[in-house]
Amino acid sequence: MSELRDGLAVAVAEIARYREMLGESEVAPPATRSELVAALAQSLPAEGVSLDEVLNELVESARPGLMASAGPRYFGFVTGGSTDAALVADVMTAGWDQLAFNEISSPASLAFEDVAGSWLKDLLGIPSSASVGFVTGAQAANTVGLTAARLQVLRDHGWDVGREGLNGGPTVRVVAGGERHATIDRTLRLLGLGENALELVPVRPDGAMDAEALDGVLRSGAAGPTIVCAQSGNVNTGAFDDLQRICAVAKQHQAWVHVDGAFGLWAGASSNLRHHVDGVELADSWGCDGHKWLNVPYDSGYAFCARPEVHAAAMGYTANYLTGQEQGRNFGGGDFVLESSRRARGFATWAALRSLGRSGIEAVVDRCCAMARRFAEGLNAIDGVAVVNDVVLNQVLVRVGDEPTTDRVALAIQESGDAWLGATTWHGERLLRISVSNWSTTSEDIDRSVGAVANAVRRISRP
Ligand SMILES: Cc1ncc(COP(=O)(O)O)c(C=O)c1O
Repeated sequence: MSELRDGLAVAVAEIARYREMLGESEVAPPATRSELVAALAQSLPAEGVSLDEVLNELVESARPGLMASAGPRYFGFVTGGSTDAALVADVMTAGWDQLAFNEISSPASLAFEDVAGSWLKDLLGIPSSASVGFVTGAQAANTVGLTAARLQVLRDHGWDVGREGLNGGPTVRVVAGGERHATIDRTLRLLGLGENALELVPVRPDGAMDAEALDGVLRSGAAGPTIVCAQSGNVNTGAFDDLQRICAVAKQHQAWVHVDGAFGLWAGASSNLRHHVDGVELADSWGCDGHKWLNVPYDSGYAFCARPEVHAAAMGYTANYLTGQEQGRNFGGGDFVLESSRRARGFATWAALRSLGRSGIEAVVDRCCAMARRFAEGLNAIDGVAVVNDVVLNQVLVRVGDEPTTDRVALAIQESGDAWLGATTWHGERLLRISVSNWSTTSEDIDRSVGAVANAVRRISRP
């Protein structure tokens, strides 16, 4: 066992060292993928080596290519870091190496999912009777939610999609805002509904669905199996769809409402922001992420469904060799997700929630939004720079010039090592895009990052 203990000690020391320097380190790594591959390249070794040698090689070879996305000055995608508690619980998860398929395969894994799941519903304003699948992220959560939706809306029209498939069945209408997240489109491809099934509702300038237009879109086609995809938190602007209105209209048309709330559903955890998700409890399914705003390590998302029996009918399966899947047992674990064998994802989420508590989670969400506003104020004070969105949440869109200028400014910021942010195209215009989602970002980090933008703009726009 001593080789294992020594190896774990090295790993713990490396993790601690890495995280302690995250606050100060350059954000973008020096090495490219191909440089790293070239340094690693060799044909598959015929013989193995000791754990000590494996670790040495792993750490030395990976270090130059590690992006400090877990740190406080990374503003790309919508990424959180990981709180200490969530990280340590994730390390424990790997060590315990549980099969979280069902309660027979690992009672602890399922119990922690049960408890963390009910805490999540409480925080996010989702009915306590909803089922929760611990999935890999919001893409998976949207896929699970829309799979349940597809099953039920077709059932309501006398069609069993699980048995019959889609061929020959009624056409499923999928109605979504023009600025839905691209994972909705991918889900439609995966589910065989196809992107062309989408009927788009016009959006307001901030990207939120124009809820007043939804009724007209629903009336414009033949009544039939219908799914409405709403969104809490636009990936560019942070804008929220009006869930209250959307659910009311959708219900008049007997449509299923799925809410993609990858990061925006966390507004429900803040008394200052909760009004953005008014009506959230009226939807039928919801997708949300742990690895964004809850700052749980990656591969952490949640698929909620108001009708557990539909959720399980869409996702569950059994086989003769499986124990613990008998009918009548409580649903759980593998009944609500895409995978069969899977990691015990509940421990890390439980640890994040347990360590922060209700007030700590609210503080993380509020602080990120305050930091986003500070970022916006700092940027607006730079000559030739303008924030173009209303910073209602943690997302900031910034005009710095035409498309080539914007891309060059983004690259210069990335290369500075002071901050990392990307660019996006929003309503035809190339803009810098900032997401403040890390629990550890401070005012000093924001001010340093504003400085990095100012320097890059000065160098690129006025060489
Ligand atoms: C609104 C929205 N939906 C879905 C996703 C996809 O999430 P994930 O990368 O966790 O699958 C994102 C990612 O940023 C998002 O912002």
